[in-house]
Amino acid sequence: MGKRFTTLAGAVALSLTLLNGAANAADPEHGKLVFGQCAGCHMVGDGAQHRFGPSLNAMLDQPAGSATGYDYSAALQKAADEGLVWDVETLDEFLQAPMQSMPGTRMAYPGLNSETDRIDVIAYLSTFTSQAATSAESEQAKSTEVEERPLAADAELPSHGVLHIGREATPDEITAWDIDVRPDGTGLPAGSGSAIDGTDLYDSQCAACHGVFGEGEGRWPILAGGLDTLTEERPEKTIGSYWPYLSTVYDYVRRAMPFGNARSLSDDDVYAITAYLLYLNDLVDEDFVLSSENFSEIRLPNENNFIEDDRALEPAFVAIAEPCMSDCIEGEAKITQRARILDVTPDAE
Ligand code: HEC
Ligand code: HEC
Repeated sequence: MGKRFTTLAGAVALSLTLLNGAANAADPEHGKLVFGQCAGCHMVGDGAQHRFGPSLNAMLDQPAGSATGYDYSAALQKAADEGLVWDVETLDEFLQAPMQSMPGTRMAYPGLNSETDRIDVIAYLSTFTSQAATSAESEQAKSTEVEERPLAADAELPSHGVLHIGREATPDEITAWDIDVRPDGTGLPAGSGSAIDGTDLYDSQCAACHGVFGEGEGRWPILAGGLDTLTEERPEKTIGSYWPYLSTVYDYVRRAMPFGNARSLSDDDVYAITAYLLYLNDLVDEDFVLSSENFSEIRLPNENNFIEDDRALEPAFVAIAEPCMSDCIEGEAKITQRARILDVTPDAE
């Protein structure tokens, strides 16, 4: 990218001088780091595609809104129609506070406060001079692909399943989804983790919502404590006080936590965090190591208070085949109890 790069970076540096009178050269290397904040929504470089935001290849000194195949907001479209061109100055203003500078833009990003960050990221963007194989070409590639595939109506009817639709899941797909762990330990992955390792993981990944000691922040769920509160008016149902099986802890954390970033923990991380949650509930010592080997030896205190639902076997149910639906009580009906006002809904803040 040699020569053109130098020229463009030079132009950016010159524009920076014009903007604030300083003679600092723009630093595209640092701009690359700043671009980390943009990369969740924008791609650049070879094969860059549109994500939530358009690909940003070769957009410097081009009219705004010119990436082919991207559906811009009305606000950006309007600015483009009014002649907005992306140069160092217009980008600098836009990137400082996109939503203020262009009300209605779909770029839901607060902006870059630091002028150095803005100039450097613009310098970084200026290094992507070619449109690369983006939208237009890849759209074309996609559409030929689509044409070559048979129409659904012509496809052979699959013989599997009840509805005869779709295809059978591959063993790999099933393995990826089939992660449930049962109370007897069936389904546990091999591995282990210590409560000590769990401390750091928990502090960095869970404490913000569940509290440093599992006491819960704000209204996020409490994970520890509450022992002997189940018969109180407001029981504290935690892993230690209420949950029947440790397998639920492992399964749930692996499947669903940290909230918003589920499935990001390794199997060993989940062992370590589960061990630490046991420790927070005073059920093991701090040097405890939980593994697929000793997992089913751990019993939670409330397990035996869960009973199987055997109502269907109770004599009253067994004897009465058809429940009485009318005139079941002789004489006039009497009110013997009134529902208490439970008042469990928290007041609005
Ligand atoms: C949360 C997602 C998101 C983030 C983060 C984000 N953008 Fe955007 N960006 C968008 C979207 C969506 C658009 C299209 C805006 C519209 O249509 O109103 C856009 C548009 C743009 C445009 C105009 C492109 C054109 O073709 O006219 C530029 C330039 C831009 N973003 C640069 C950046 C830079 C640089 C960063 C990081 C500092 C960044 N964006 C961060 C979502 C994002
Ligand atoms: C961003 C906040 C947040 C973070 C971080 C977070 N959680 Fe949660 N957690 C929640 C919410 C919200 C729920 C309730 C979800 C629901 O009921 O659907 C929950 C529920 C739980 C529960 C079930 C509690 C119960 O009694 O029903 C456990 C166990 C749990 N989280 C463990 C963890 C662990 C372990 C981590 C760290 C790896 C973690 N969480 C990180 C927000 C969070």
